[in-house]
Amino acid sequence: MKRVAVIGLGLIGASLCAALKKTGADVWLQGYARTESTREQALGLGLIDAACHSVDEVMQAADIVLIAVPMGQFRSVFESVYKARTGSTVVTDAGSTKHSVVKDVLSVVGSMPEWFVPGHPIAGSELSGVEAHDATLFIGHQIILTPVETTSVTAIESVEALWQDVGGTVSRMDVKRHDEVLALTSHLPHVLAFNLVHALSDDDEHLEIFRYAAGGFRDFTRIAASDPVMWRDISLANQAALLAGLDRYTERLRAMRDAIAAGDGDWLRSSFERARDARRHFSSLSDQGVQSVADTHPSIFEITAPTSGLSGRIRVPGDKSISHRAIMLGSLADGVTTVDGFLEGEDAIATVQAFREMGVAIDGPNEGRVVIQGVGRDGLKAPVGPLYMGNSGTSMRLLSGILAGQRFDTELTGDSSLSKRPMRRVADPLALLGAQIQTAADGTPPIRIRGGHTLVGCHTDLTVASAQVKSALLLAGMYAEGETSVTEPAPTRDHTERMLAGFGYPVAREGATARLQGGGRLTGCHIDVPSDISSAAFFLVAASIVPGSDVWIEHVGMNPTRIGVIEILNRMGARIEIHNAREVGGEPVADLRVQAAPLQGIDVPEALVPLAIDEFPVLFVAASLAAGETRVSGASELRVKESDRIQSMVDGLTTLGVTIEGTADGAVIQGLGANGVFQGGRVHAHEDHRIAMAFSVAGLRAETPVVVEDCANVATSFPNFVGLARQIGFPLTVSS
Ligand code: S3P
Repeated sequence: MKRVAVIGLGLIGASLCAALKKTGADVWLQGYARTESTREQALGLGLIDAACHSVDEVMQAADIVLIAVPMGQFRSVFESVYKARTGSTVVTDAGSTKHSVVKDVLSVVGSMPEWFVPGHPIAGSELSGVEAHDATLFIGHQIILTPVETTSVTAIESVEALWQDVGGTVSRMDVKRHDEVLALTSHLPHVLAFNLVHALSDDDEHLEIFRYAAGGFRDFTRIAASDPVMWRDISLANQAALLAGLDRYTERLRAMRDAIAAGDGDWLRSSFERARDARRHFSSLSDQGVQSVADTHPSIFEITAPTSGLSGRIRVPGDKSISHRAIMLGSLADGVTTVDGFLEGEDAIATVQAFREMGVAIDGPNEGRVVIQGVGRDGLKAPVGPLYMGNSGTSMRLLSGILAGQRFDTELTGDSSLSKRPMRRVADPLALLGAQIQTAADGTPPIRIRGGHTLVGCHTDLTVASAQVKSALLLAGMYAEGETSVTEPAPTRDHTERMLAGFGYPVAREGATARLQGGGRLTGCHIDVPSDISSAAFFLVAASIVPGSDVWIEHVGMNPTRIGVIEILNRMGARIEIHNAREVGGEPVADLRVQAAPLQGIDVPEALVPLAIDEFPVLFVAASLAAGETRVSGASELRVKESDRIQSMVDGLTTLGVTIEGTADGAVIQGLGANGVFQGGRVHAHEDHRIAMAFSVAGLRAETPVVVEDCANVATSFPNFVGLARQIGFPLTVSS
């Protein structure tokens, strides 16, 4: 039986006890609190098995000890712990600042003992005391450990296991970084909330003010109900970092005051926009315990068959791949870059946010317009904390290439879906250029990149046809000495090569090989983002399968490396006309007209797979309504997208009455034929935007409604999907 000792039975200490009890694990809990009543209360509530009367007593035979006392008491408690500790007992703490903890430990021991692991569960609330205990407090919350060089690996692992057992997500951080990050994300907001309420309460009319204080005041000041002693201690323990944050904030506050005084509406709007985008981005940080995307977006779609054909003229949002690259290259360019038609989806916003966190001033997106004040090739600054990429594999992989060439260290994290995706495919080839880059043991995020290493160009033969990997290498190549070249096994989207050229950075292309010389510079320019053919694809299939349909989709990107979906649908007998073909900013664009047509099953040529890789979910829907069999092979990449797309589609289509067999690298689908219909039912999108939209299309030819669960992530690539779908006649309702 493991013996866990908890010193301090306030919110954190008591909640750990409650959570450990709830796991049902074989743990003996011995607790100590300064006041007898707290100890008795904890014992009475069944949170601890033994109430101890001193630190000495609580340390007896403990395997692991958590010190969860206010910062101001830490040193004296630690001194007693140090004196009482015997054997191999591991000690950790829960203090909100780590530099002061390390300083206190050093002052007691003289060096950092290998058995002490500084830690900080980011799970506090304005509630305090043993009665506030909550067995679920740590579930899904970050627990940051800040071990130092001398801390033993076994000690770290046992503390990690303790927090994981109660549902925490454990990460490691450097002591200084921890204090800087927490100063901005926790200590500063607390100080501001206390201060605002204090300022208003000084007012003679404060009772009147508080009586009418509604949502805004309540939201902003909730944390001013926190424990004053605890926050006094934290503010002083993290004095330097908090002062730096306060100075930054004071400067911004002054700028805002000036803008309001000057009636500068543009300034205010742009500042509010940036803040709104950042806040939305934070909302998807489920690992911070903030509401997750799924909580904030309606997420169940229900679709029924329309009584007449789909019709209308629409323009789908900007291309996701091009939008990402515009932000990346615009940020690294000299001078200003303006972007029109930018995709205002969560994936692209994650890229915007990452560059803002590295010091780039980016205005917008505002109705598709973004203005980027480029900082130049070497002008990025170290971000304060890990860069969160949300659901976006493109952001994570392309940024890895750029960050490998920086002078500073970075860490890239993502949501639960991205955290399962393979990253060795970029880490391994980047390492060959000399990058210091690490993934988790199983090759998934987080990615940690050490800056300040010289990259040396080399040639890479890619084993997987991936534009993201190719792009990561070319972007790293800008920072490498000499030439970097990449040969791909099959053509993939070439937006990086085209856009680099558009920014004045030469990229040579011979057959399957792209090459560039390191050390060049980018010049800011204007980018017109065409509509995303991957988003248009849902409507290409929708109009093809609903009898009587006639739909125009305008300004669609027709880059030859992206039009596999049109080629495949044409082979199946679709009626797609290409009108007004033109070139916009280095990318071909056209208006597409699609009319309903009976479809025929085909063997999809493997060469077309990388050119239509994102469109397979909806192509599976088309194939399910074609006459005869469709075979897809050479598409194993589908298994490592935002979900395992082969499995997601096999599961859902089977529910809808289709005979479909998934294979390792594709599927064999028996189409229901030109007059066939799906049977209705409930299917799951597996948090994957394209699966959600593909099944919404399926609902258009179903006998009874198709209900698609878990559609929140549609906003990652196609924020106005529901609106446009309804505009051309989808009977689609949304609920949460
Ligand atoms: C993308 C490349 C493709 C694609 C993704 C966007 C890009 O991924 O699926 O949606 O912008 O480079 P892979 O490179 O992994 O095939």
